[in-house]
Order: sequence, then C-alpha cells, then structure tokens
Amino acid sequence: TKKIIIDTDPGQDDAVALLLALASPELEVLGITTVAGNVPLDLTERNARIICQIAGRRDVPVYAGSAAPLSRPLVTAEHVHGKSGLDGIELFEPDTPLAQGHAVDFIVETLRREAKGSVTLVPIGPLTNIAMAFRQAPDIIGRVERIVLMGGAYFEVGNITPAAEFNIYVDPEAAKIVFTSGVPLTVLPLDVTHKALTSREWIETMRASGPVGQAVAGWTDFFERYDREKYGSEGAPLHDPCAIAWLLQPELFTGRHINVEIETQGELTLGMTVADWWRVTGREPNALFIRDINRAGFFDLMTQRITSLDR
Ligand code: BDR
Ligand code: CA
Repeated sequence: TKKIIIDTDPGQDDAVALLLALASPELEVLGITTVAGNVPLDLTERNARIICQIAGRRDVPVYAGSAAPLSRPLVTAEHVHGKSGLDGIELFEPDTPLAQGHAVDFIVETLRREAKGSVTLVPIGPLTNIAMAFRQAPDIIGRVERIVLMGGAYFEVGNITPAAEFNIYVDPEAAKIVFTSGVPLTVLPLDVTHKALTSREWIETMRASGPVGQAVAGWTDFFERYDREKYGSEGAPLHDPCAIAWLLQPELFTGRHINVEIETQGELTLGMTVADWWRVTGREPNALFIRDINRAGFFDLMTQRITSLDR
C-alpha cells in the first residue's frame, strides 16, 4: 500500500476525492490535513470530519491547518460550493473530534517518522500547509516520495481569474515554494479535470448505490449547476478525484514531464501556472503535467470504489 496524506479544503469534489481514497485498499491515508480555501478553515475541518463519518472511517485523523494564505487575504469560493462548502446534502455535526495539534506539525512529524521516500502528499486545495511545512522543516523535503496535486491550468486558462486556477491563485507564494522544492510533482490541472465530467447516468448510478452514493449524487447535483451556467458544460468536473485516481491508475492519464513555474508578481496573471508544454525555455522539467484522461475508465474506477463503501 501507498502511504498518503491528503491536504484538503472540502468542497464537494474534495469530498468525492476523500471517499475514493478511503475506499481504496491500495492507499493508506495516514491523515487528512485541512486548509482554508473553498470556505474558511472552521468549515473545511468540520467538512472533512463529516466526510470521514459518511465513509464510516472515524479512525482517520483530521487535523486543522492554516486559516489564511502565507501572505495574502483568503479568497473563498462559496459561489461554486455554497455557503457550507458541502451544499447538496443534509449536513450534520460530526461526532469525531478534531485531532490534537496543527496540520503542519502532523505533516512534519509524519515525514520524519516514516521511512524516507515512503509518503506521498496529495494537496487538493491551496498549498499553504505544504509550503509552511517545507519552510518550517526543510529536512522533510527530501523525504517526500512525490506530491500529486490538483491545481493550475494552461490551455484551459483560469477559473478564478482569466489566467489562474483557484488552488494556485489563493496562495501563489505557497505554490511557488512547492513547485521549486525539487520534490517530484504530478499536476492535475483544469486541462484534465474539465474532462472528468459527470454524466446524468453516472449520478443516477451513485444515487442507487446507498447512503454514500446518495451523498455523492447530492454533491454533484449541486456542483454541476455552477459549471452548466458558467461554461455550458454537461456535468460536474470532478477536479480533486483526479489526483487520487492518478495514484490508483496512472495509466488512465497522459501528460508531459515539463517545467512549470508560478507567477507571483503579475498584475493580470497572478497565480498562473506557466507550463512550458512546448519546451521552449530550456528550464529543467519539474512536473508531470497531465492533460488527458480516459474518462470511461475513470468513472468505472469511481463507481467500483464508491459503491464498495455502500456494501
Ligand atoms: C479546485 O478549486 C476548488 O474549488 C476545487 O475543490 C478544486 O480543488 C478547482 O479549481
Ligand atoms: Ca479542493
């Protein structure tokens, strides 16, 4: 099994990503760390605990991390995810408490404790916690096996500004620390996640599965509305589950090993992931930048795993 820490800001698509990971025997989720992003931290940490409870996994510790980006005011996305971050289902107060300690300390301690090169970090929100951990404890950087993150966009440009994707835009300084860290990176940008669109049929399969599938259907129903109105697309883009799916079945995806730099200065392009897709700069490749997905294979995997939580 692969040991992972998921850093998240749930978010309906984060929720589905967490369910996919918790349902997958190939992955050992050492902990879930939460960050401010789609909604403020008090909601993202509560939402993560709600999701674990829905999955029947009260054993996975949930830590609260950074309430704001490294050096900027927080930007949130209630216009996409609703006021709670998890609109679309009946929410409840989770019965599992938050784990003691700060998410950044958990990341640092776990990487120091586990064998070198045995822990993969999976950030699916702004990169604040990961950057804080690297800044606070540079000795852990060389111990990370890989970072598999959802963030950025290149051909598909932005969703929060014309140039930037939300997770990178919220904390570009943190993203820069991660992208220049030297840790092997896999990046799942909007270019691929906008192809991971739910179909009506798939949502109905989820709804018929049982309580977990019904939660997924409720979330995707809600989440879909925004993209339909904004982009005219059919279905909800399952951004964050792409990161988990890449860990499980990388052969579902194709991309290029290229150089990706983060814009932290630009007046109009703050938070842009400048991806040297055509390799015109001579800058060293630092990321596997994914662009395509086998959509049918991805949804087969999702169906198989999510429905297993209802059995
Ligand atoms: C990313 O931003 C959030 O709204 C989603 O959860 C996803 O991580 C997509 O840009
Ligand atoms: Ca997210």
